[in-house]
Amino acid sequence: MNTALSMNSLGNGYRALVIGASGGLGAAFCQWLEQDPRCAGVRTLGRGTLPMLDLEQPESIAEAAAALAAQAPYQLIVHAAGLLHRGAIGPEKSYAAIEDHALKAVFQVNALGPALVLRHFLPLLGPEGAMAMLSAKVGSIGDNRLGGWYAYRASKAALNMLVKTAAIELARTQPRARLLSLHPGTVISRLSQPFRGAVAARPASLAAGELLNLIDRLTPADSGEFFAYDGERLAW
Ligand SMILES: NC(=O)c1ccc[n+]([C@@H]2O[C@H](COP(=O)([O-])OP(=O)(O)OC[C@H]3O[C@@H](n4cnc5c(N)ncnc54)[C@H](OP(=O)(O)O)[C@@H]3O)[C@@H](O)[C@H]2O)c1
Repeated sequence: MNTALSMNSLGNGYRALVIGASGGLGAAFCQWLEQDPRCAGVRTLGRGTLPMLDLEQPESIAEAAAALAAQAPYQLIVHAAGLLHRGAIGPEKSYAAIEDHALKAVFQVNALGPALVLRHFLPLLGPEGAMAMLSAKVGSIGDNRLGGWYAYRASKAALNMLVKTAAIELARTQPRARLLSLHPGTVISRLSQPFRGAVAARPASLAAGELLNLIDRLTPADSGEFFAYDGERLAW
């Protein structure tokens, strides 16, 4: 990291929460935020924290939010968890490879769990705060040219719809807040490791810094939209 970060849109003494902080991007978000002089503290949540938040244990999402409610509001909430592959689960090259158990697991982590994160953590967001959900450009239906990756693509498309829908509702009660769906680009991490191929993958620190700068630039008028790390507005 060679430049300083300052999240000007969040005010002095803002409080941040990173869900999925053990991941490549999640850890990089935390590193940037801990160095921001405006940031009063970074709280982390995941399968290894106390309280624990496991996207495959819905009750843990509600319990974690209840445990953190006393320290609310958070001016920044970043959801950086996600699943592309684990064990026998991996991106399908053909519809012949679609498996019930894999679909359910990927949808649970990428869409159903995050839906409950929206339910339980949006109430902890400050009135001028920003909540960002990490999505993926391969979840864009309009941009799908290569096919494959059924579960991951469809789960991220579902996540995008959940974000858009919640943002419409949020705007009615918290018109100065931002809820965003963000694509980090191809980033060096456990998730991308087997699939990076010839694509130039960026370090997580660089990507997280770019995403935080983007969140800082985006306004409530951009809430509910789907952006790439470089500010490009992506097709649904
Ligand atoms: N890397 C890329 O090129 C890329 C591209 C597009 C989009 N994205 C998106 O960016 C986000 C972060 O990805 P990353 O590259 O940082 O991946 P990563 O290093 O593999 O991190 C994934 C994170 O998700 C968490 N997670 C997985 N299953 C979970 C569960 N059941 N409950 C709670 N947390 C769970 C992991 O926690 P554990 O440590 O407990 O496993 C980890 O913190 C994901 O949403 C991904 O889809 C990444």
